[in-house]
Amino acid sequence: MIPSVLPTYSRAPLSFVKGEGSWLIEADGRRFLDLGAGIAVNALGHANPELVAALTEQAGALWHTSNLYQIPQQQALADKLVEASFADTVFFTNSGTESCELAVKMARKYWYDKGHPEKTDIIAFSGSFHGRSSAGIAAAGSEKMTKGFGPLLPGFVHLPWGDDAALAEAISDTVGAILVEPVQGEGGIIPMADDKLKALRALCDDKGILLILDEVQCGMGRTGRLFAHEWAGITPDIMMVAKGIGGGFPLGAVLATEEAASGMTAGTHGSTYGGNPLGCAVGSKVMDIVTGPGFLDEVNRKAGLLRQKLEGLVASHPEVFEAVRGSGLMLGIKCVAANMDVVKAGYDQLVLTVPAADNVIRLLPPLTISDDEIDAAIARLDAAATALVAETA
Ligand SMILES: Cc1ncc(COP(=O)(O)O)c(C=O)c1O
Repeated sequence: MIPSVLPTYSRAPLSFVKGEGSWLIEADGRRFLDLGAGIAVNALGHANPELVAALTEQAGALWHTSNLYQIPQQQALADKLVEASFADTVFFTNSGTESCELAVKMARKYWYDKGHPEKTDIIAFSGSFHGRSSAGIAAAGSEKMTKGFGPLLPGFVHLPWGDDAALAEAISDTVGAILVEPVQGEGGIIPMADDKLKALRALCDDKGILLILDEVQCGMGRTGRLFAHEWAGITPDIMMVAKGIGGGFPLGAVLATEEAASGMTAGTHGSTYGGNPLGCAVGSKVMDIVTGPGFLDEVNRKAGLLRQKLEGLVASHPEVFEAVRGSGLMLGIKCVAANMDVVKAGYDQLVLTVPAADNVIRLLPPLTISDDEIDAAIARLDAAATALVAETA
């Protein structure tokens, strides 16, 4: 008999009743160190007091009015995002996949309005992940996500990640945009090198193509800059964000330049819940904290510390781990042992990590993780690796 919850997830046998900063607590009191942060969502930790205050204050005043009316909380958050980024304008969604939908629509409408309705193709890359909507799975294109769900939304060209020659060849008159994650998340924590991202921007400028960045997982301070593309010194035309922007409240956004957004006039897009007062009140507080004095410096310092300690961990367990990679507090350990076995061994040591493609485990801790918690993370991962080796000996 089918379970009452549609069985689309392989869930771990864990269930939490409370969160506190970097910790998740089960009903029996067991405390797990959360290095997954809800897959890069709880950027400021669980039950962050400032976010709880922002949420409860707004909850006591007004939850929802719809986008029929002015929403001051939405305006305030949009102003902050515009002020802190390349963008001139913002549309709020509830998730990353909805941000993908709008990014695709925006790019196509741009070219339609410019008198180039043929420029509907969007180039995307192998290993990418852009969400589970029809546009999201068609954009990523992997068999795992698309099989059985056809006919797929047309207009996506899939290229191998990092193949410059294939990219140059794929640029045709029907290509309107390139869509890329500056750091692939689900694909196994694969950063695009700064010079590659610069070259991509230059190519888009040269050919008059829109650059869409998917910063759903790598954005909002995760790599140590507010947005990951800042490391390369480039800006996109359109950018998708979600996850960390709401700190755990479902919130996403599409940021764009005035030019790229020029086709999105009244009536061309909408969302019942997108930009609701609750989500935006929380998002505004997240922005204040992440862009506040010294916050990102601390992320970078802790990222350096964690990375250095992980290098030591990997070196001391060559039967389990192969290499560390990633950017800031978006780190992946390529495993020698099966990554799911490592994740499960972590459960036994009360530490949570997240599997990704390419036999990687992801470490995406709250950006607020402390130095002591970093030490505890290493000790628990060390114990997990030791136990795994003992088990398989
Ligand atoms: C890079 C990227 N894009 C899009 C999405 C989809 O976001 P959501 O699950 O909020 O719809 C994800 C989710 O993991 C993601 O990592």
